[in-house]
Amino acid sequence: MKRSEVNQIIERAIVFLREMRFLLPPFAYWTLEDWRTKGPEYDEIKDNMLGWDVTDFGSGDFRNVGLLLFTLRNGNFNDPKYIKPYCERILIVEEGQVLPSHTHYRKMEDIINRGGGNLMMELYGSNEDGTYSDKPLTITMDGRRLTIEPGTVLRLTPGESITLVPGQYHKFWGEPGTGTVLLGEVSTVGDDRVDNRFYQATGRIPEIIEDEKPKYLLFRDYPILDRLLSSLD
Ligand SMILES: [Fe+2]
Repeated sequence: MKRSEVNQIIERAIVFLREMRFLLPPFAYWTLEDWRTKGPEYDEIKDNMLGWDVTDFGSGDFRNVGLLLFTLRNGNFNDPKYIKPYCERILIVEEGQVLPSHTHYRKMEDIINRGGGNLMMELYGSNEDGTYSDKPLTITMDGRRLTIEPGTVLRLTPGESITLVPGQYHKFWGEPGTGTVLLGEVSTVGDDRVDNRFYQATGRIPEIIEDEKPKYLLFRDYPILDRLLSSLD
């Protein structure tokens, strides 16, 4: 993805979240110049991959296959100094914009429709080897347990949520004609570098072509922050 596209996607997200009255923490708005002034007291942001995450899953077509997320809080799989066992994110899903089918090795998550359009979600259980199971799967939705056939597509209207456990494949998109969807995610600790099993190979962390200055950092930028900062000079 080009940095200019990422900048535009985040700017649009900030406008949408404001319209939806979803308020972000201060670090959401830090520019590169701001990052330069932040010391080790903010290590948690970088260590636990908080902040912006934009990906097109290698499709080259973000509008149709892509996702924008903002991680508000998270723990850490590897560093015991972070004791937080939970994670919270906000996601924006456009009408018809697909998040490819994937499951998680460790993360258990609730996906919550926080408002806007409807979310469509296709579900499968999995076999040990990562293939789709042909058996029914049991999920819970807002206190209701239900068993569904593999490949069932559920509709989550604003306010509804679903609980997914590791091994349950999910693919979702915004229902066309209903508007952009604001999704919440409440989960156990997540790490998108290692915890996703995509049904078909896909690039979770995008390569970025630096065609303009970053307006906001993505979590994938934290390891190269020094390089990005030196590009300012
Ligand atoms: Fe997921």
